[in-house]
Amino acid sequence: MTKNLNIYVATMTGTALMVADEIEEFCKNNDLNTKIHEMDVLEPESLLNVKSPIIIISSTYGQGDVPDGSKNFYNNLKSSNIKLEHIKYAVFGLGDMTYRDTFAYGGKKFDHLFTELNANRIGEPYYHDASDGSLPEEEAVNWFRDKIFRFLYADNEVK
Ligand SMILES: Cc1cc2nc3c(=O)[nH]c(=O)nc-3n(C[C@H](O)[C@H](O)[C@H](O)COP(=O)(O)O)c2cc1C
Repeated sequence: MTKNLNIYVATMTGTALMVADEIEEFCKNNDLNTKIHEMDVLEPESLLNVKSPIIIISSTYGQGDVPDGSKNFYNNLKSSNIKLEHIKYAVFGLGDMTYRDTFAYGGKKFDHLFTELNANRIGEPYYHDASDGSLPEEEAVNWFRDKIFRFLYADNEVK
């Protein structure tokens, strides 16, 4: 049976999209179909028809805000009555510890919202800190492979 994964991206300067591309590459090599959706163009109602798990990849801007382009999606979803109990999701957030009080709030906000709407989280979210010199795409693929892929697709051997 074909297995599918949705990757939802909220980015300002493209790092989160690069992370999504690397996870997509891993998936391609492991017999998993992916579709990357930029949240800038998503309507909350589209979540009603989602049948495959979602990986949310979001950076943080302003003072702990979700990226500008994803604000409509975030706010409209927050004020909707949509219930997401049919959805499984995981979160990879990007932030910078220099902004100590709002570290990775973009990803954290999406996590809280999806939980509030009764979606089912897979694993613990991972929050990347841009100030420590590590590569977000490397950490993301390791996290995805070890904590998400192995759990969701236990029958697939990691290649
Ligand atoms: C103007 C500005 C504001 C930021 N605000 C925050 C913040 O409040 N909290 C945080 O953890 N990171 C913050 N960051 C760091 C970014 O989220 C981080 O660099 C991220 O990797 C950028 O990803 P992107 O290219 O996908 O947007 C900020 C960066 C900039 C340039």
